[in-house]
Amino acid sequence: MNTEETLAQIAKEVSVCTNCTLHKNRKKAVPGEGPANAEIMFIGEGPGFHENEQGRPFVGAAGKFLDQLLAQAGVTRGDVFITNVVKCRPPENRDPQADELASCDLYLERQIEAMNPSIIVTLGRFSMGKFMKGAKISQVHGEMRKIGERYVIAMFHPAAALHQAALKPAILADFAKLPELLNEARKGLGRSAKKAKKNEVQEDPKQLNLF
Ligand code: URA
Repeated sequence: MNTEETLAQIAKEVSVCTNCTLHKNRKKAVPGEGPANAEIMFIGEGPGFHENEQGRPFVGAAGKFLDQLLAQAGVTRGDVFITNVVKCRPPENRDPQADELASCDLYLERQIEAMNPSIIVTLGRFSMGKFMKGAKISQVHGEMRKIGERYVIAMFHPAAALHQAALKPAILADFAKLPELLNEARKGLGRSAKKAKKNEVQEDPKQLNLF
């Protein structure tokens, strides 16, 4: 199976998963989305109301802010893979619990292994906790650390920055550093920039013949 097929297989399993109780209130699971060859993987916390309706990550208010932050870093959603530590919505958007994080981690680990991203950006304390046990987000945000075969950068969650104005300058500054950190990560891993595989609509040669 190639990476794209592996990601599709994981998404299929997630959509019918019953490994924790979060599936009970699930409308749509949110496995994550983005190109299979993305160099950057963003990991948020879990789907909220809109994500549960649409089955897509970060499509509500926090997602709009994430789009702005990405644009500021010169990237679009089409360049990155976005997922969460839990793939089904916790009731009333409560924090994900340890058993839910543990069951869903199997899917996240498989996504990371299949994609082998150069950089993982964690959004919020739950995804940070997966890579940097015991770290304080206020102290480590924006720092890039080599963890295993890749680099990890912890950032504030966009929803936190939306609700606490004091965090906004920090999240803006951290996202602005992303292009420079990506170059640093590529150098550290001895990788070159991956050619973006845009989802461009191919022009139909038959159509071209009409003109
Ligand atoms: N917040 C998250 O952490 N993830 C989403 O997908 C949406 C909001």
